[in-house]
Amino acid sequence: MGERSLLDRTFEAFKNDRIENVVNDFFYGLGQIRRTLTAEAWKTFINDCRAHPVMGIFQQDPFTRRCYQKPRGYPGDPVVMDLIYNEDPELIASLKQESDLGLRIYREFLKHPETSAVRSRKAILTSKIDETLQRCPSPAIMSVGCGHLREAEACQGMRDHQAVRFTAIDQDTASLEVVRKTWNGRIGTASTSVVDILRKDTIRDTGFDLIYAAGLYDYLNDNLSERLTAALFGKLRSGGKLLIANFIAEPPNVAFMEACMDWWLIYRVEEDMIRMTARIDRKKLAELRLYTDDTGCIMFLELTSQ
Ligand SMILES: C[S@@+](CC[C@H](N)C(=O)[O-])C[C@H]1O[C@@H](n2cnc3c(N)ncnc32)[C@H](O)[C@@H]1O
Repeated sequence: MGERSLLDRTFEAFKNDRIENVVNDFFYGLGQIRRTLTAEAWKTFINDCRAHPVMGIFQQDPFTRRCYQKPRGYPGDPVVMDLIYNEDPELIASLKQESDLGLRIYREFLKHPETSAVRSRKAILTSKIDETLQRCPSPAIMSVGCGHLREAEACQGMRDHQAVRFTAIDQDTASLEVVRKTWNGRIGTASTSVVDILRKDTIRDTGFDLIYAAGLYDYLNDNLSERLTAALFGKLRSGGKLLIANFIAEPPNVAFMEACMDWWLIYRVEEDMIRMTARIDRKKLAELRLYTDDTGCIMFLELTSQ
């Protein structure tokens, strides 16, 4: 099937086929096209795709639309994360204004492996926070690229108001405002970028039992990743853990993310994750673990300090 005919056929199929079939056939077709084209030809095809009326249909889905329009300047912002988590009552109520077709496409996306992986990543973080609260007598935790910090809301120890020094870091002040409102001052926030953390040493605190970053490294090049990993590892206390999540190369629906959401991540394999530890003094590294979430889409690098 020609590249153009996938777009035409999908547009027609929306009129009478089941959404599930249309979306899955389109994702599959896009993936095939991406695999056969050079990087340059793939970008040319993306331009055709975005000019085609099928793009207008996918843009009815609030998830695809927000990624593509990037109101915060980048696609996977914390509101997009909330659309994936599908738990925020205010956001769920606001979806009533969406078209029926848009909502059906959105619900279809919620079943896909990438969105399942993001929910599963959140559950893993929640369990790591709980485990830290149980393990440490005066726990100190930091989230870098915290977004709305939803994983902490799901955490039993946090809900029980257990004493904790929790620091939430993000360059996006709107996200930090949500964290401040939710936690009413219980969680300290700092607005700073990764570049400023590295260049200006904007996080002075140390002695953390758990530091984690989810949905952040997928945007950082190898050089920044290596430097940030060493800087964060240096802020752990003895026995403390640094946990870094990154999408694996390459998840099943990467073609749709690039073509219709304009969402380009840096995907990594195990060797790339291990290379992130290159600037850490091996004598200070007690343990290095690599594992994936249940969907196999997201990899975790967990480093324990001596
Ligand atoms: C995909 S969201 C993930 C949010 C949250 N960790 C979660 O898992 O739901 C990525 C977050 O990282 C922040 N971020 C991205 N690049 C950053 C940078 N260079 N410095 C600081 N924060 C950054 C964004 O503002 C955003 O809140």
